[in-house]
Amino acid sequence: MQLFIDSGDLDEIREAQAMGAIDGVTTNPSLLAKGGRPTRQAIAAICEIVDGPVSAEVLAIDCEGILREGRELAKIHPNVVVKVPLIAEGLKAVKIFASEGIHTNVTLCFSAPQALLVAKAGATYISPFVGRIDDAGGDGMELVQQIVEIYRNYDFDTQVLTASVRSPVHFTRAALIGSHVATVPFAVIKQLLKHPLTDIGLAKFLEDAKKIPQG
Ligand code: E4P
Repeated sequence: MQLFIDSGDLDEIREAQAMGAIDGVTTNPSLLAKGGRPTRQAIAAICEIVDGPVSAEVLAIDCEGILREGRELAKIHPNVVVKVPLIAEGLKAVKIFASEGIHTNVTLCFSAPQALLVAKAGATYISPFVGRIDDAGGDGMELVQQIVEIYRNYDFDTQVLTASVRSPVHFTRAALIGSHVATVPFAVIKQLLKHPLTDIGLAKFLEDAKKIPQG
């Protein structure tokens, strides 16, 4: 499973990249607003740090506007993936982007039939928002399971990008289910790395090493 970082913060993207951990980046307007840089500038900077797909979201909600904004975003760097909202106008735009060779990530997916329509439109990625489904009392990972199964049944090329990941449990379950990608905030990437027994074991090795001559 590929690991993308879900962030608009250049410092944390650099840090995760240095760990060799990430294959790509997803952003959204809320994440970029935290960074405070203009969108085009932020996306160009991210593409310089990470050599992999970088999702940049359009703000338009009509097909013409989505196409206009998406084509501009795609010009920033060949790795840019145009992030499109899961609405009828969005799917019309996805179909046209697919015919132009522009990669797309359809965002804000909350149901299996939505995901099926997105695959038929020819999207590169579908983003089910698992954490937000859990927040609303549902089971986000069950949706990922359904989408993976449906896409396998019909050999769709669209990749499942598990989004709104809040914990290592989401990440592990995504990998077990066969999600192609999980996009994970930096704080959760650090949790993936952590295990108390690793820290305890390392402290003990370093302490015991003091008892023997080094050299
Ligand atoms: C994914 O592309 C979204 O940017 C993101 O995963 C949303 O996560 P949130 O529900 O924690 O805001």
